[in-house]
Amino acid sequence: MNQQKLSTQSEGLSRRQWLKGAGVLASCATMANLGNVLPHAHAATTGNMEQWPWPYVKLDPTTTAELAYREWYRIYCGGAVISSVFTQLREKVGEPYTSFPIDAFMFLEGGCASWGTLCGSNAGACIVANLILGPRLLDEEAMGHRISTEILEWYCNASMPVFKPKQPRIKGEIPKTIAESPLCHVSVGKWMAISEKPINSPERKDRCARTAASVSYRLVELLNSWKEDEFEFMEEGNFSPLSDHGINAQPNCAECHGGGVPEAPEMRKPKA
Ligand code: HEC
Repeated sequence: MNQQKLSTQSEGLSRRQWLKGAGVLASCATMANLGNVLPHAHAATTGNMEQWPWPYVKLDPTTTAELAYREWYRIYCGGAVISSVFTQLREKVGEPYTSFPIDAFMFLEGGCASWGTLCGSNAGACIVANLILGPRLLDEEAMGHRISTEILEWYCNASMPVFKPKQPRIKGEIPKTIAESPLCHVSVGKWMAISEKPINSPERKDRCARTAASVSYRLVELLNSWKEDEFEFMEEGNFSPLSDHGINAQPNCAECHGGGVPEAPEMRKPKA
């Protein structure tokens, strides 16, 4: 299909159709109704790698963060987070980690191919959590999903970068900022505003390398606590935008909407 045709097709899809589609997704995603909505049966053709959870052994958060810091300078944030966990598990466990193509995830850099959307460190952490723990269609506990939520919330509130490597490339202090958003653009943008450093400065690069390392550290803490059966949500609890606001969203509504945060049309209750 050529480009021309593709773009005409998406223009043909009206706003109403888009909204309808979003509504279906929204009701499927209501955690409380998970058991009723999703079939328990496995897909007819289950791939080799679709046996969950993947074998996991506890990792050292500091070692993992140091690895992520180093890998950032090779494959950037998302790739670095995935690599920091999976290269260790390749050694300690073997398959399926050995077959997993870590470097393909370099595209997560800059919030996905430099589009400034979800910070690649967050995306990488969500990928790792869901590969190890499996998708939430498996069971109501949905640990991969919960750890993803936990990572995003932690990232929004963290004074970033949290982790300082043993031998950082930048010897001086790196300013810390709180993004209040999981987005690359907002997170890097707030840091650039405070530091007055351009995107290609060694300081900005080291800030993002340390941010990837910080996320790896937190991810492994969470995976370890799951392994020990001690997983607990942070005190702020579990942000559930659908039931709270009727739309998929980040919690920082006012940052984009200013004072006039719109109210979503009320969801129809899914049938029990
Ligand atoms: C990253 C920026 C951003 C954040 C954060 C954000 N929104 Fe939005 N939101 C938008 C944009 C852009 C639109 C599209 C507005 C339009 O087309 O009128 C939108 C649309 C909406 C709509 C549907 C449009 C309408 O007028 O009914 C609702 C409801 C909404 N947002 C609520 C929220 C709530 C509640 C939050 C916080 C939990 C939130 N938003 C956070 C940017 C954002």
